[in-house]
Amino acid sequence: MTLADVLRQRRSIKRFTNRPVSREEIETLLTAATLAPNHRLTQPWRFYVLGPQARQAYGLALGERKARKLDDAGAADALRDRVADEHRALPCMIVVAIVRNESAEMAEEDYAAAMMGIENLALAAVEMGLGTHIKTGGVMEDPDAREAVGVADDQRIVAVVNVGEPAEVPPPKPRRRSESLTTWTK
Ligand SMILES: Cc1cc2nc3c(=O)[nH]c(=O)nc-3n(C[C@H](O)[C@H](O)[C@H](O)COP(=O)(O)O)c2cc1C
Repeated sequence: MTLADVLRQRRSIKRFTNRPVSREEIETLLTAATLAPNHRLTQPWRFYVLGPQARQAYGLALGERKARKLDDAGAADALRDRVADEHRALPCMIVVAIVRNESAEMAEEDYAAAMMGIENLALAAVEMGLGTHIKTGGVMEDPDAREAVGVADDQRIVAVVNVGEPAEVPPPKPRRRSESLTTWTK
């Protein structure tokens, strides 16, 4: 598989098979992430590989946030529990955090580096026959979600990456051609 194949085949995967992701596979993915460029070699990324209890607790925190938007108490409870169960059932969930930095410039660079690491991870997964779904949102700052992860106080969660064998690979989403986005200067 060439890099061009990998780039074209990567998708955000929302449904996974029940095939577990091995610790060795996860370590290979995390090693790929740590090869990303990072200014000043800060290596800002920290990884939390969640076990089933932590996944459920994170899902509960996310489900609770979604449930709060519903008026019907029964529907809200059902939604919260469904989101929690869905998270518990995930084959693998990796939370990526970065060490907070008081310098706005360095914090931005560290965030960028972490996202490059996540892309490395996502591309390595494709080569291994795995799929990923990167997820973000307000839940990352939610105290219950942070507690579920066990993230250190001096760290900021920047993304959650679900990993597993794809049960379904969606078609590519439309992309604007690079020509329409590019200015060539003298
Ligand atoms: C930084 C970042 C955050 C994302 N957050 C979410 C998210 O919270 N929920 C979600 O369903 N997808 C999320 N995605 C996935 C995008 O929706 C997805 O990449 C986009 O729709 C293009 O689809 P593709 O990845 O299959 O090419 C995120 C992607 C990135 C890069």
